[in-house]
Amino acid sequence: MRSAPAPFFSPLCMAPLASLLVGLVLLNTTAPAAAAGDKVWISLGDAAWAQLQQLQPAAKASASVEIKQVSAEATQGARAAIKAEKVHLVEVDEAALLGLSNAVHEKLRRCGGYMFHASKAEGMKTLQSGQAGFTALLAPTRPSYVIDQQTTVNPMLAQMQASNIGQTILDLSANTNRYYTTSGGVAASNWLKNRWSNLAAGRSDITVEQFSHANWAQKSVIATIKGSDNAAQIVVLGAHLDSINSQGTTETTRAPGADDDASGVASLTEIFRTLVNSGFKPRRTLKFMAYAAEEVGLRGSQEIANSFAAANANVVGVMQLDMTNYKGAANDIYIFTDYTDSAQNTFVSNLIKTYLPTLKVGTDRCGYACSDHASWSAKGFYASMPFESSFAADNPYIHSANDTYANSGNQADHSLKFARMALAYAVELGADGAATPPVDKTENFSGSLALNQTQSFGPFKLASGGSLKASTTGSGDIDLFVKRGGPASTSSYDCKSDGSTATESCSLGATVNSDVYVLLKGYSAGTFKLTVSYTPQ
Ligand code: BES
Ligand code: ZN
Repeated sequence: MRSAPAPFFSPLCMAPLASLLVGLVLLNTTAPAAAAGDKVWISLGDAAWAQLQQLQPAAKASASVEIKQVSAEATQGARAAIKAEKVHLVEVDEAALLGLSNAVHEKLRRCGGYMFHASKAEGMKTLQSGQAGFTALLAPTRPSYVIDQQTTVNPMLAQMQASNIGQTILDLSANTNRYYTTSGGVAASNWLKNRWSNLAAGRSDITVEQFSHANWAQKSVIATIKGSDNAAQIVVLGAHLDSINSQGTTETTRAPGADDDASGVASLTEIFRTLVNSGFKPRRTLKFMAYAAEEVGLRGSQEIANSFAAANANVVGVMQLDMTNYKGAANDIYIFTDYTDSAQNTFVSNLIKTYLPTLKVGTDRCGYACSDHASWSAKGFYASMPFESSFAADNPYIHSANDTYANSGNQADHSLKFARMALAYAVELGADGAATPPVDKTENFSGSLALNQTQSFGPFKLASGGSLKASTTGSGDIDLFVKRGGPASTSSYDCKSDGSTATESCSLGATVNSDVYVLLKGYSAGTFKLTVSYTPQ
């Protein structure tokens, strides 16, 4: 007998809601076209709505929907705290909003913000998907986090140069500014597209494209190294291309953004250069993204992450590098724990222990959706954001004319640590499934599944002659499917275990080196702990 489906909300399926909380405030800048009377549509949660009502008593909500909110800290495994909240769709005066946003920002720094919508209809769609999205979202595959690419990664790390990163920071910050609406912002996008194209010259598996945004001129830049034989699984490394001066950015306002975030784009550029120079051909698809319009509410990354989610793209990991060159605190790298995925964060921390063992690692949090990783987390993707300092001790010059390379010490040694860490991330995830020497591994995953929701895992690399065992425990009724050579489904598998509880087990052998995939399905809603162990013989 199978247990009856219980009402249950999976943290992952809550994700669309989080997107409502993504667009934080920082519109305390002069958006050039904010003439008095211009109206914009925003959606916002109860806390931000209460603030707005105080600040703009005339504002009326056109629609309010109740949503179940999972705490931002909701991590893998534990069933997250769920509370009911309303999200309100409101038309506000853009000019007034800009003027008031400092106060909102101060008060709501740790409790969410608002999200822009191009129109009322768009806003309604988002509100409705926030409700309907509970089971609609396809969970990304959870990759194996085994670290086994030392022979590939170590020689690459040795090739990476701080001076290259420094030069890119100088080149980018030579633009008067890189604001999302200015000619400098456009020029920086074109420049970067050329730079990445030149680096990729001669590789037919690499494309460099600009992603156009309907509502502003600056384009995001995306370089793609197509995966050789697992191309559908995508790994994203991102940084933001734009800069801002919080006094108000016009065509001629100086906003070098050397640290925020030329340092992130420059780190990506050095990773990309090194991978290409080493002839690295990933199995998964790698995408390097320089986002437009981060500084005005994560708008570029939101459009991109939303389009990937809408296309059901299987993005298995996202890393954001935003501010990497100013060492403000004792540790070298602070892994931010909010709006990120704890299992991937553990992997990143293990990458640093493996490849950069002299670095000191800490954790901290922004407390709000502070950068583009939040656009991806909002859609249920696994994101991480390793940061240059603790939140409190970050670069004091950002968002001003003084965010220069000189004020980061005219060196890029700090950025180089991030570039090396992120290269290890790109290679370890990118190379997954490659036939490497057999290793003994056990990996644990945990999470929850709604009724009929599936989640896939892998590939796990099983060496010829080896055996793999996947087993689950948990609550509810979870079914287990395991397949060699490609993703398992409920109708295509080499082993299935579908008893009436969450306790399941499957074992497989392989006569040749094989990719093995695991699929879990919530026959009823439940939580699981999955253990995958594989042995060479
Ligand atoms: N790089 C910053 C984020 C940041 C600043 C993180 C300081 C940690 C410490 C980013 O470019 C930024 O300015 N974000 C805005 C929010 C965004 C939604 C406009 C912010 O932090 O206020
Ligand atoms: Zn910023």
